[in-house]
Amino acid sequence: MDNIKKLREEAETKILSAQNLEDLNKLYIEIFGKNSALANLTKNLSSLPPESRRQAGANINQAKQDLEKLYQTKRVSLVTNRKSTQIDVTAPGKKQQLGHLHLVSQAIEEIVEIFSKLGFSLQSYPEVDWDWYAFEALNMPKGHPARDDWETFFVDAPQNPKYGRQVLTPHTSNGQVREMEAVKTPPIRMINISRCYRRQIDVSHTPMFHQFEGLLVDKKVSITDLKGTFDFFTKTFFGPNRITRLRPHHFRFTEPSFEVDVTCGVCAGRGCRLCKEGWLELGGSGMVHPKVLEAGKIDPKTYTGFAFGWGIERTIAMKTELPDIRLLYQNDIRFLEQF
Ligand code: DAH
Repeated sequence: MDNIKKLREEAETKILSAQNLEDLNKLYIEIFGKNSALANLTKNLSSLPPESRRQAGANINQAKQDLEKLYQTKRVSLVTNRKSTQIDVTAPGKKQQLGHLHLVSQAIEEIVEIFSKLGFSLQSYPEVDWDWYAFEALNMPKGHPARDDWETFFVDAPQNPKYGRQVLTPHTSNGQVREMEAVKTPPIRMINISRCYRRQIDVSHTPMFHQFEGLLVDKKVSITDLKGTFDFFTKTFFGPNRITRLRPHHFRFTEPSFEVDVTCGVCAGRGCRLCKEGWLELGGSGMVHPKVLEAGKIDPKTYTGFAFGWGIERTIAMKTELPDIRLLYQNDIRFLEQF
């Protein structure tokens, strides 16, 4: 009995004082091996008198089990310890995560830069504006069916006797007459970028979106100036192989009016699933209507101009082949970090 107790205490001390895994491994044979003191005790059991043999056997087994448990616990603690103190110099480093501008902000910067090369300067006009600037001055009187297309949000606020109700601007065209009033005497070359709001949501619409509006007014401005400007923008923004075409359309604030199409980037204009017939629609444009110039106190007999208003999200979708513009506003980092 005493022998077992002593042996057990010695083994416990050795296990507990092992400094590292190598030492502990060596102890295993010494304590549990074939020629260990514990094994010898078992071998000698038969020489004991039968009355004490059974108890001695049970004690040896208990000691073995307890020591085995202690050994494993020590082993786990040494392994964990080793992991936390050793440095693996071959492990890949942790990269600092860098953010970038949102796709819409990137596009805005690019668009501003392209038009600034043609002498257009960036202006900023209200996002909540009077009905007058958003519609009336643009030759769209109240009750005109064309106004239904804009699906406007009206602001619940007192009306102005001259300017009417306030609206969340449904397009950036409200900047046109405001710019004419600010500059007074042409030339005018402005680009107005702003958030716009309409009651619409589907794969190609979000209730809040951005437009960029161009306005150029000067003497002898013609449709060729408009076409040349659009070609320059298209080739710089979408790529040198893309071309534009003008499709007749109707807007109350331009005459003549056009929809501007750009050749599809996927099929290069041959026709594919994305574009159907080779063209993607960029947005509206036209020669500024004389009534709009008059609303801005500019003489239409002396000056002419062209204007256009295009959606930023749509241009991004056309450039990156985005299937659903709502992705831009879902804040999903897996989507955003691709750009
Ligand atoms: N404001 C129009 C819209 O939101 C787009 C537009 C069409 C703007 C023709 C223009 C223009 O300046 O000339 O749908």
